[in-house]
Amino acid sequence: MTYSKIAGTGSYLPERVVTNRDLEARIDTSDEWIVSRTGIEARHVAAEGEMTSDLALQAARRALQAAETGAGELDLIVVATTTPDMVFPSTACLLQAKLGARQCAAFDVQAVCTGFVYALAVADRLVASGTHGCALVVGAEVFSRLLDWNDRRTCVLFGDGAGAVVLRRAETPGILSTHLCADGSLAHILRVDGGISHGQIRGNPYLEMDGQAVYRTAVRVLEESAFQTLKRNGVTARELDWYVPHQANIRIINSLADKIGIAPEKVVTTVARQGNTSAASVPLALDSAVRDGRIKPGHLVLLQGVGGGMTWGSVLLRM
Ligand code: ACO
Repeated sequence: MTYSKIAGTGSYLPERVVTNRDLEARIDTSDEWIVSRTGIEARHVAAEGEMTSDLALQAARRALQAAETGAGELDLIVVATTTPDMVFPSTACLLQAKLGARQCAAFDVQAVCTGFVYALAVADRLVASGTHGCALVVGAEVFSRLLDWNDRRTCVLFGDGAGAVVLRRAETPGILSTHLCADGSLAHILRVDGGISHGQIRGNPYLEMDGQAVYRTAVRVLEESAFQTLKRNGVTARELDWYVPHQANIRIINSLADKIGIAPEKVVTTVARQGNTSAASVPLALDSAVRDGRIKPGHLVLLQGVGGGMTWGSVLLRM
């Protein structure tokens, strides 16, 4: 039996930081409202002309360096994003060219904020089955460009960034199990329904959200998914070393940790300084805890994502 295993992680945040105080100056909101409802204090916003593939490139280089892997060794690149540079080619192909990684498979995965978890699950199967030997999996977003910056209900929640991992084939796990799910009947509670058609933008190009419905759904489905994952692997929540959930809202994260039975000190959070970076949030949080020495080789880690679709999923892995 062969597995896939994370050989290195990396991440990147754009330079510009927008604080809640900056937003107070532009729209009818307050630092107190945003922090008490979401835990978010600041978010990073990409510079004009800085594209998803640019953020992905920085994160990818750091992950490759951590994995002591050259771009030429990659035989698979999967990018999770809802904000691709263009309709096509895929951001994964643009990243491949920027990395100088020739002759490998490259494609994008679209599962909004669950995108990285979906991408990791797909890459895991391709690597563990022996079809591919070395994969780069990236979550990267310029979500700030999907926001109406005059809509206080949504623009305070999100930020831009990228995170990446290098996956290699291994004799020992590695990724233990992946659990993906979706419910398209909930498409209307979180969406950007705009698209390009006949040379025009059709529909609304900005994010629309029923915040309370998203909140309730996120807590319900991630609790179910966590218990399904633990049961499948015959482990208890207490045996987890780390919980790395999607970083949408500190209240969702705390509520989930409590319901699953994970101690607060085992929960990795980045939402305060980064906001919700959609597909980038899980690999950004993972990389931060690897680089500051909290997550160590051998640790048992539960990753979880939830987002538009609605989509959701869990990955249990040993570092
Ligand atoms: N500043 C000040 N007031 C605000 C703001 C703001 N930024 N946003 C909304 N309000 C106001 C509303 O207008 C409303 O005022 P009204 O009663 O006069 O109409 C009041 O605050 C309450 O609004 P609600 O939407 O009921 O606020 P709620 O307590 O539900 O909090 C929030 C909203 C934070 C969005 C919450 O529903 C939530 O966290 N939902 C989860 C959504 C989420 O995380 N989305 C991220 C994308 S999805 C994902 O990644 C899983």
